[in-house]
Amino acid sequence: MSGCPNFGRKHQLFQVRPFQKDDRDDAQLGCNKASRGDILYGEYLQLDKVVTAQVLQSELQGKKVHDEHLFIVTHQAHELWFKQILWELDSVREIFIKNHVRDERNMLKVVSQIQRIKIIFRLLIQQFMVLETTTAMEFFDFREYLSSASGFQSLQFRLLESKLGIPESQRVPYNHSHYRDNFRGQVGEALTRSEQEQSLLQLVEKWLERTPGLEKDGFNFWGKLQANISKGFDSEMRKLEQSPELDTKEEKMEDLKKQKAVFASLFDEKCHNHLLSKGEKRISYQALQGALMIYYYREEPRFQLPFQLLMSLMDIDALMTKWRYNHVCVVHRMIGSKSGVGDSSEYHYLRSTLSDRDKVFADFFNLATFLVPRKWVPKLNPSIHTFSVTAECCDSSYGSSEDSDQDCWDKEGR
Ligand code: HEM
Repeated sequence: MSGCPNFGRKHQLFQVRPFQKDDRDDAQLGCNKASRGDILYGEYLQLDKVVTAQVLQSELQGKKVHDEHLFIVTHQAHELWFKQILWELDSVREIFIKNHVRDERNMLKVVSQIQRIKIIFRLLIQQFMVLETTTAMEFFDFREYLSSASGFQSLQFRLLESKLGIPESQRVPYNHSHYRDNFRGQVGEALTRSEQEQSLLQLVEKWLERTPGLEKDGFNFWGKLQANISKGFDSEMRKLEQSPELDTKEEKMEDLKKQKAVFASLFDEKCHNHLLSKGEKRISYQALQGALMIYYYREEPRFQLPFQLLMSLMDIDALMTKWRYNHVCVVHRMIGSKSGVGDSSEYHYLRSTLSDRDKVFADFFNLATFLVPRKWVPKLNPSIHTFSVTAECCDSSYGSSEDSDQDCWDKEGR
């Protein structure tokens, strides 16, 4: 016998009694608002403009190509989502510009809006699947009608890039010309303005520079970290030297020396500034310290939202790269790798935008190079370093507040 109480009643369960005239239907109790003269759905959304904006050039030329409709709708849907992303981005930038982020309660808003941008990008990546239901042959049928129109001229895409923080110097020229040459008049001015405004990257950089705990006369995170890492490597080296002769001993020592050199570069401010001037680093030395601190102490209540912000910014970078990649795949299957609407090979140009150069928040990705064993991370001592309200809660797994750094090193037997 079955344990399901509905077993045996399954036919009754799926029987729907026909609606009787006298039955009371609560769904019908409201009044018809449309008849009151209130603003209606179509008016509110200005659908007369939106759904009449799909003008097929092929149809105008008397050779209607069915799939051109999908091509237009996909681009328009993208542009609408770009608009929403810019809306969120401007709002987040304003919170930073007006310094409202000093009130840490505003961090929730910042993180939520950045996460929304992230989810929109995920959606945009998926949209290419719909476009892929068309074929190169169908695209070929209406391609000539596109004339010189190209996504390369999408103002909102360029605004998005510059407001996020892609510097002008990092732009890849296309057909030997600057990307801005495609924009004239008011549109060109809007673009120039966006390049002069503070980008999200620059604003986040300033915010990171103020990370609590960086103060040299306070917790002095950087000084402590440098000392701990130096001691850590010395200790590892000693252990290796004292270990019995093994085939791999030489190799391990070489590895350790290499790692030590990597960390030496972390503490070399001159080297950092040199890379910054070459565009190989994007954030200041002080901001890098703040970001690493947030990485290490991410479990501290005060650093949880900042950590989520750094993660989401990396997600946006990764998703933009995925968007570029999906786009390049669509372009490849639609027009191959030869020259198309423009003069040079569009496919090769687009592929060149897939490098790290187009990653705005590459410095945050690189932080993973500098992760260290938890015991090397300077311990918080709540009686001295309170990190304001939160450091009293030292139940996080990276270290107990009862151990000072010295205790920790002593336990290691040094
Ligand atoms: C059949 C589908 C598509 C084809 C064949 C295509 C083709 C191209 C080509 C050839 C380029 C290089 C510039 C040029 O020579 O014009 C380009 C750039 C671009 N396209 Fe598309 N595209 C397609 C779909 C889309 C969609 C749906 C969007 C969404 C808005 C889009 C946005 C862009 C953007 C923003 C660029 C500039 C990228 C950059 O410079 O980094 N494209 N596209």
